[in-house]
Amino acid sequence: MKSVLLLVLQLFSWTGGSPCCTWFRPPDGPVDRVQDRDQDWDQLQDQVQDLALELDGSAVLHRLDPRYLSVTVDASLAAQEKFMLLLRSEKIRTLARALSPAFLRFGGTRQDFMVFTPEKELQLDPDVSGGLAGPCVSCPGPCVDARLPWWWEERLKADWTRQQQVLVREDLQRKYRRIGFSELTVDMLHSFSSCSGLDLIFGLNALLRTADNSWNSSNADMLLRYCQARRYRLDWELGNEPNSFEKKAGIRVDGYQLGLDFTHLRKMMSESELYRDAGLYGPDVGQPRDHRADILEGFLQSGADAVDALTWHHYYVNGRDTSLEDFLDPEVLDTLALKTNEVMERVKEASPGKAVWLGETSSAYGGGALGLSDTFVAGFMWMDKLGLAARLGLGVVMRQVLLGSGSYHLVDENLDPLPDYWLSVLHKKLVGPEVLKAQAVSGVGRSKRVRVYLHCASKTSYGGGAVVLLAMNMSKKPARISVPALVSNSTVDAFVLQSEQRGEEGLLSRSVQLNGRLLKMVDDKTLPPLTGEHLPAEDHLQLPAYSLAFFVFVDAGVAACH
Ligand SMILES: *[C@@H]1O[C@H](CO)[C@@H](O)[C@H](O)[C@H]1NC(C)=O
Ligand SMILES: *[C@@H]1O[C@H](CO)[C@@H](O)[C@H](O)[C@H]1NC(C)=O
Ligand SMILES: *[C@@H]1O[C@H](CO)[C@@H](O)[C@H](O)[C@H]1NC(C)=O
Repeated sequence: MKSVLLLVLQLFSWTGGSPCCTWFRPPDGPVDRVQDRDQDWDQLQDQVQDLALELDGSAVLHRLDPRYLSVTVDASLAAQEKFMLLLRSEKIRTLARALSPAFLRFGGTRQDFMVFTPEKELQLDPDVSGGLAGPCVSCPGPCVDARLPWWWEERLKADWTRQQQVLVREDLQRKYRRIGFSELTVDMLHSFSSCSGLDLIFGLNALLRTADNSWNSSNADMLLRYCQARRYRLDWELGNEPNSFEKKAGIRVDGYQLGLDFTHLRKMMSESELYRDAGLYGPDVGQPRDHRADILEGFLQSGADAVDALTWHHYYVNGRDTSLEDFLDPEVLDTLALKTNEVMERVKEASPGKAVWLGETSSAYGGGALGLSDTFVAGFMWMDKLGLAARLGLGVVMRQVLLGSGSYHLVDENLDPLPDYWLSVLHKKLVGPEVLKAQAVSGVGRSKRVRVYLHCASKTSYGGGAVVLLAMNMSKKPARISVPALVSNSTVDAFVLQSEQRGEEGLLSRSVQLNGRLLKMVDDKTLPPLTGEHLPAEDHLQLPAYSLAFFVFVDAGVAACH
């Protein structure tokens, strides 16, 4: 039985704001740069526009990994190892726990410069579990004991600000030095992820090469044996953005060779009792440019069977030359679909059925765009990416970064959550892995500035049959959503995120309100209640200007969601 939901968006155009004033605004403040790039389209809308969203409620379009929304910690955090201790902060652990289940990927440019340099002579005996001799300095105790003393945390946070400048300089000059890391880095990552309910993925260095340019696995072998001795459960990756190895390190590795390297790593894993069934993901290539898939094709020939999911990276814009306009531009948001289709086509051809994931992704590359990637406006890129990537069938999306260098972090320098963190937590809490087929159509085209996505609601929060509509309004124009019978008979839990300052001025805020209440932690151990506003069954939904919303149709009884 195919049940078709019809959600009608009636868009009334607004002739009030004359176009002249938008075009001829002086280019001073960033806020003034917001213009409707699709103004021509908007000008067509001088009457009521009906948009119909058709949904096939009987079939699930894609089923995502339960860890769909995942996060990363960039390897640059370990460039000076003491900063790994930030992962012992109680606040960051509380915040991470609310994102479970998820992956925690540890990787990035510096992973290919990192060499495991244990401080202890390892007495490794693969037959003895935990066969390590001597006391363990950095070994985490039970989760509750892991806490960092407050004065230590304050000191680290202050030093981290200086360290970030060093990292930025290195990135600009593309001068990367070899980084030795000890047991501490591994122990901290494992303790943090396991105590927070996250599944750790460790990115190995692929730039350790032999004379014949194949991967030298001896350092990885030592690391695997250390982790196995400690009984650390984790998954693996090898290399970060191999398409730019030459630029970063002057070493060229082609895709076919990299595939062989992955096959070699898979063989090492299969010989380990603990990592026989662990995940291996890769090759973490950058997004296709000018329709060139770079090393992806070669990799697929020799390495597709070695990986459980194929990973690639995506950013919309360059952090150094982007604008507020880009962050609200429907055309910019749509580029994700183009790149995804390019990658998907190649994978489907070479390795049909192979899962494709976004192994690292955010708004702007180059560390993000300061003042944009860390403010409320970033939520439009983030929510649209979460919605669109799911609809395109990408099984996991790993957000760069949970905390660390750059301005695209979910958690700021003081380890306080930014607007994208709250958006992520709501997504985790409300959105189920079943993606429903939904399409908004109208006479003139789809609404570019009101964007919607539909999933079954999360079963941990709602009963069967509930659906959740992800909706964002990037518009200044009046519009009205009227909902059809099947959905309008259901009560609604509304979660509307807005900046506390309404309108364009609020777009650059570093805080956010949920249903009109400012979101902030109660204390280091406690998040505020994230409750929806219960709305009675209604035939209209209200989506304010510049808002991001989740509407849960609690008793819609949609067949595919039972
Ligand atoms: C791999 O690296 C190790 C450590 O640097 C070195 O001792 C070994 O000779 C290398 N193996 C090959 C085949 O290059
Ligand atoms: C989007 O925001 C505008 C401006 O406030 C508002 O008039 C309109 O109703 C909103 N759109 C929807 C679909 O609710
Ligand atoms: C919605 O409720 C009305 C009145 O209670 C009922 O007549 C109608 O059949 C319901 N529609 C659906 C699609 O469930």
